[in-house]
Amino acid sequence: MVTWSAPGKVFLFGEHAVVYGKPGLAMAIKPRVFVTVRKNRHPTPAKSPYIDGCFKAMGVTGSVYVNSQMPSSSGLGSSAAVTVATLSAINDEFDLDRTREEIALTAYQIERAVQKGRASPTDTYVSTIGGMVLITGQSRRKIPPQNLNLVVGNTLVSHSTAKMVELVAEGQRKFPDVMNPVMEAMGALTLSAVRNLSNPRQLGQLMNINEALLEVLGVGHPTLSKLVIASRNAGAFGAKLTGAGGGGCMIALCPKHMKGRVAAAIDACDARAFITSIDTVGARKENDA
Ligand code: MEV
Repeated sequence: MVTWSAPGKVFLFGEHAVVYGKPGLAMAIKPRVFVTVRKNRHPTPAKSPYIDGCFKAMGVTGSVYVNSQMPSSSGLGSSAAVTVATLSAINDEFDLDRTREEIALTAYQIERAVQKGRASPTDTYVSTIGGMVLITGQSRRKIPPQNLNLVVGNTLVSHSTAKMVELVAEGQRKFPDVMNPVMEAMGALTLSAVRNLSNPRQLGQLMNINEALLEVLGVGHPTLSKLVIASRNAGAFGAKLTGAGGGGCMIALCPKHMKGRVAAAIDACDARAFITSIDTVGARKENDA
């Protein structure tokens, strides 16, 4: 029996634009999903299509126990983290010798199949290797880790990534001349952010611009806007939704001494805030209890 864990992630810049081949920047964060796998010839079927997909992809059978520090369906990549941790645990328990790159690729294929083709490799890749990653199409570049003071705000409004991606695609089909430049601008924002990673004030401003463009795409939500504005008023450098939008989570980049104040402002909007930072480890083996 072995236990592996994998982290969640936030999109700092470029969600949705990455689906159109533009650059996006994502970062692994501290909350993790823990998965224990044990060999078992006659397991009870898992309730999750992600976990079923993992056993099918690896060609073995076993039983699974999942323990998550993350809310599901909130845009923090919990399904990717479950998939990555399950594949890593299966790999270890059955001595299959897969590399991290292979685990990341298999996890992406499983997510894409479960989500009917609507997934970029971002969540699964970032969860596997940790740190900060610049995604452009199928290319992935690890960026030297930065210590960003982030507060995550969960609206508690559930959303569907597939629906939000479809909504953006509809806008794109209807008004390509308007939407293409918006996607271009989002890509440019990401590249500008990569050049300004050590300047949180500039980064915050870029986040605010990114938030406005996400609104243009139609993936905002009144509760997200409320949390974004509350965070800025409480002293954040900048704030934006993170992930697919339409609900789920937002992030605020804060001066170090303002994190508590920003989190309290989010909580006061009947939402759930937590302070987080970068996870540089990715998938890892846990000591057996
Ligand atoms: C969802 O977390 C981010 C999207 O860009 C979709 C994806 O990248 O798979 C909306």
